[in-house]
Order: sequence, then structure tokens, then C-alpha cells
Amino acid sequence: FFGFDLSEASESLEYDDEQEGLEDEVVIKFSHVVAENTPKGEAVRKFASLVQDRSNGEIKVEVYSNGTLYNDENEFTALMNGHIQMIAPATSKMTERFPKWQVLDLPFAFPDYDAVRQAYEGEIGLTLLNNLENGVKGMTFWYNGFKQLTSDKQPLTVPSDFNRTHFRIMPSPMIESQFRALGASTSMLPFNKTYSNLEVDFIDGQENTPSNVYTKKLFQEQKYMTISNHGYLGYVVLMNEAFWENLSEEHQTIVQEALNETTNWIRRHSIEMNDAHLRMMKRADSIEVHYLTNKQKQLWKQTFEPVYEEAENIVGKRLMEEIYGIQE
Ligand code: LMR
Repeated sequence: FFGFDLSEASESLEYDDEQEGLEDEVVIKFSHVVAENTPKGEAVRKFASLVQDRSNGEIKVEVYSNGTLYNDENEFTALMNGHIQMIAPATSKMTERFPKWQVLDLPFAFPDYDAVRQAYEGEIGLTLLNNLENGVKGMTFWYNGFKQLTSDKQPLTVPSDFNRTHFRIMPSPMIESQFRALGASTSMLPFNKTYSNLEVDFIDGQENTPSNVYTKKLFQEQKYMTISNHGYLGYVVLMNEAFWENLSEEHQTIVQEALNETTNWIRRHSIEMNDAHLRMMKRADSIEVHYLTNKQKQLWKQTFEPVYEEAENIVGKRLMEEIYGIQE
């Protein structure tokens, strides 16, 4: 009888502990639009497990991938309203609200990975993060990769190949200008509508990283891919500002350190992952891959000159100087 009583007491003690834990638990809903086996998909998982482990379960990160909770048209508003606490949209998707962010969409803005890092982690990144409002806090930049072009009509090697071709683009006026300069037309469509619009031939082509083209099976609807490296697709990690401010100092440190570690990881891992996905598409043999020659690249660059001329009015002289600086 005595023993029975004791075990009951200890059971109810455990139960009380759990109840207390639940009350104190902080939940971060992190919503994104890409597949799990992508640089961003894996980075969010890594961040979630770091935060959960280091906070001994006090902070729980719930991950919603593939646009299942919010898509790229409504995730920013959901973040602003506090329905979710974190998102990591492509920087291009910030441009409608914050036009200066278009500086990152200038064609051939980045000659290599190092230039991207200089922009994200240097003056340009700092300026852009300080250019946010709406109760949204910019935490860090995450990496995916250089965008490549795919099409169903013809290989895209010289500017005239773009004539009468219709492309899906992310909502960035600078990207729209880039295609207009090449003589193509565009539709701004959500990421997760790209496949279906290729399938019904509403669009002929699109630009994206090998990882997005592979994991969303876009290559199955496309005949040609050009490795052009004409633009870079990266992300800004955003948090609801009021939520951040309500976190204890200790929790803020855990979140910030987990983000820093994940940023260091995705910077390297995104390159390996895009290389692997490109290899898999080549092996699948259903898409013909072309590499832009230096001569062809020069032709594209000449075509983009008017885009650069317009850009200063949008992004300002200082950011233009910064971007020219990292191109040297
Ligand atoms: C796209 O819309 O093509 C990308 O921004 C998707 C993503 O988040 O990588």
C-alpha cells in the first residue's frame, strides 16, 4: 500500500513538470515554399534542431515546407501579423515592398560565390536589412545558388533566342527588365505554380537554381537548360519583430547562434547540393545542358546595359557603387 502511494506521487510530480514545460514552451512557426531536400529546406531543419536541443526543448520550431501553410504571395503578411514567426523568402520577393532590394537582382551582379558573400555579409546586406519595416526583423542572409535558364522552345545561348519566349519570374521589376532587355515576355507567378504552368505551356521557360529545378521536377517539362550564372538566388531570414523582442535574452542568444551556424553551413552546403542536383539532371538525360561561352556572355552583358542605366534611380547611387565595387 505504501509503495503504491509513493509511485502515484512521483507520477503526478512528473506530470506537473510536463504541464509547466508546456506552458513555458515558445513555438516558432517557420514557413517556406521549397522542397525539404534543398539548401533552404535542410537549413530550416538544421536551425530547428539546433534551437530545440540548445534550449532543452523550451523553444520548439515547427517547420512548414512546400508552401503548405503559406505561399510566397501571403507569407510576408502572415509574418507581419504574427500568424507565423519566421520565413526565408528569396531576396527578389522583397523588392515590391522594398525597391532597393532590386540591387541583388541586377544581371551578372555577382562574378562568383565570393562576391555574393561580400554583398550579403558586407555593406550591401547591412543597408538592406536596415531598410526593413512593418514589424519585421531581418536576421541573416541564406544561400541557394546561381540561377540557370530553362526553356522548351530552343537552347538559350544568344539574346535573339529569347524572342517570343514567355518566362515565369519571381516578382521583381529588375528581373522583369532583364527579360525585357532580352526580348522576352514574363509572368510573375508563385514558385509552386511554376510546374503546372510549364505543363500547360502557359510559360515556355523559367530561371532557377538546379536544386529548385530538380526537386520541383521542372526539368521534366523543359528541353533545354543554359548554365548562365546570370543571377543569384538567395534568401533573407525574417522574424516577427515583436516576437523577437519578447524572447528572453537567453533565448535570443540561442536563436542568433543557431542562425549563425546554419548560415555558415548553408554557404558551403548549397554549392554541393546544387552541383549534385545538376549532375542528377544530366544523368537523367531528359534535358539538354548548354554552357554559356565567354563570347556569348559578353553579348548578354551588352544587352543588359540599359538595365544598369535604369537601376540607379531605383536603388540609389551608394548601392550601385557598392555593387560595382564587388564586381572588380
Ligand atoms: C522561386 O520562387 O523561384 C524561389 O524563390 C523559390 C525559393 O524559395 O527558392
